Amino acid sequence: MRSLKDIDIKGKKVLIRVDYNVPLDGTRVTDDTRIRESLPTLRHLLGGGAAVVICCHLGQPKAGPTPELSLAPVAAHLAGMLGLSVPLAADCIGPEVKKLIAELGPGQVLMLENLRFYKAETSKDVAEREGFAKELVAGIDVYVSDAFGVAHRPNASVTEAPKFAPKACAGLLMQKEWEFLHGRLSNPERPYMAVSGGSKVSSKLGILKNLLGKVDNLIIGGAMANTFRLAQGIDMGASLVELELLDEARAILAAAPDAGTQIHLPVDFVLATSMKDTVPAVASHTGPVPAGLMALDIGPKSVLVFAEVLKKAKTVVWNGPMGAFENPAFAAGSIGVAKAIVASGALSIVGGGDTDAVVHQAHLGERFSFISTGGGSFLEFLEGKELPGFKALEECS
Ligand code: 3PG
Repeated sequence: MRSLKDIDIKGKKVLIRVDYNVPLDGTRVTDDTRIRESLPTLRHLLGGGAAVVICCHLGQPKAGPTPELSLAPVAAHLAGMLGLSVPLAADCIGPEVKKLIAELGPGQVLMLENLRFYKAETSKDVAEREGFAKELVAGIDVYVSDAFGVAHRPNASVTEAPKFAPKACAGLLMQKEWEFLHGRLSNPERPYMAVSGGSKVSSKLGILKNLLGKVDNLIIGGAMANTFRLAQGIDMGASLVELELLDEARAILAAAPDAGTQIHLPVDFVLATSMKDTVPAVASHTGPVPAGLMALDIGPKSVLVFAEVLKKAKTVVWNGPMGAFENPAFAAGSIGVAKAIVASGALSIVGGGDTDAVVHQAHLGERFSFISTGGGSFLEFLEGKELPGFKALEECS
């Protein structure tokens, strides 16, 4: 992919596609990780004398402009982080926007209103997306993509805009994501291990299947492990299980040895009657789970077993918590695994909103080699899918 560092930006109008689809509490941004991660690219552009036009989406508006999904709170938050004024245009295309872009000077920033106020942004019809993308890049010299979080969406601003801009390249964040995910994971140092958690096998099935044969060790935790344990004939009491996926779980367990992947499941669980309990009913339980109790975290013995496996890792990729970590009573398994990964000294790559939250809750953010800004895009990457956002940048280079 063409790098931003290879492009002359001085005096140029630069349109940057970012992923500022951040959580809001009314008009307050509650997690600004994605905004923070885009700052190096923005500072590079501003310091290099570009006039910077930011475009992004917020939420999934269904019927045109939706005041609750205006980017106004995001523009205000970014202004505070940059220490610069970030005016928000009332639209993202059209004559008024063109005028604002024409008037924008070097070192100045303009944010465009929510791209998804236009159906064409997410349209399945390529011609419709192309028409919108052409309008978006009108008056622009350079298109920069720094929106890894939306790289799995074939949206006009992601896949079509780079085709129509005079020049297009990846931003510093996008390039970092590319280097870690494609560069470091395509030929990983071995043993290569994956830690997969979260609540549902159904949402991770594609990942588990894709990782079989690629990783040397696959550690499975979270409520997902309940279905695997049940598939092995262990009663899981009132735990969350996906009965319709028992055969899939059995097939994965059966295919692993021939694929050369060793699967590790929890050997004990933290049990409680409800996710709201503040104290577990059983801190470490092995064997069938009694009726009325549910497994809400992997137990301390499992953390030790997983840590022993992880010790040998040279590369680890982690997605999905080991338990219902939002409740401190069930966070120890996820935090224990986070500590074991960093203690291994392996190249460690984490992705997905919940997993990032665990890492930050454990104050280990700095100790991981790379924390991806992707949620759905990171999952699709682990599923082995080609990300349209990456592909578009490769094709226009
Ligand atoms: C995300 O938050 O995962 C991205 O911004 C994509 O958002 P979407 O799922 O609404 O397309």
